[in-house]
Amino acid sequence: MKKPPFLIVAIDGGAAAGKSSTAHALSTRFNFLHADTGSYYRALTAELLHRGVKAKDAESVRAELADLKFDTQIVARDARMKIHGDRISETDIRSEVVNNAVSHFAALPDLRAALLAYQRNLAEVARAHHFGGLVMEGRDIGTVIFPNADFRVFLHADPHERVRRREREGHVDAVAERDRLDSSRAAAPLTCPAGAVAIDSTHLPLNEVVERIARLITARLLGP
Ligand code: CDP
Repeated sequence: MKKPPFLIVAIDGGAAAGKSSTAHALSTRFNFLHADTGSYYRALTAELLHRGVKAKDAESVRAELADLKFDTQIVARDARMKIHGDRISETDIRSEVVNNAVSHFAALPDLRAALLAYQRNLAEVARAHHFGGLVMEGRDIGTVIFPNADFRVFLHADPHERVRRREREGHVDAVAERDRLDSSRAAAPLTCPAGAVAIDSTHLPLNEVVERIARLITARLLGP
């Protein structure tokens, strides 16, 4: 039997649009490595804040970045980023301070450049660990990181619904403000990649969103 192709799925969308739950479900279904790139921006933000660096001070950010070493720990199908061999806790990366600062750090071209090669290399990590593919979620995956991904998906949801989702998760999160910053920045702004499959999840249950993407992947795996 022919070996199935290694597939890359790029999922982009605004804050709390359902990217993580969708990417997680797809990674379980197809045995793909899952990369939540928002968690990498959050980890870097937490680390820089811990070092006393402010996003306004681009010089200090650049100097600190030069000193940071990233590697990856795979937990089940999750590619988690470590900084100097340590994982920054989920509590720290989802804290209100990080929610408020992350989009300011993520707008800095130096910080994005520091993560670019790391994110692209996760395709090699996935292959080396015999995953069937890579599902990567973020804001610029289909536009900048993997513009030639096999599937590019853009998830929308009504902003009020997204705030409600975050509240149900017990987080204080300025969803609309992060969207505004992420969409208006000069470096890799959040935008629907040309030719992407756009799905509005406001009134669509998660399993239906997953099914729509899963049908496309299955069709590709079965081949012509
Ligand atoms: O979980 P949520 O969708 O709210 O956000 P996230 O995916 O954890 O991303 C946190 C922040 O990181 C975003 O608001 C962006 O500012 C930044 N980010 C980015 O700029 N590019 C990415 N590929 C992923 C996240």
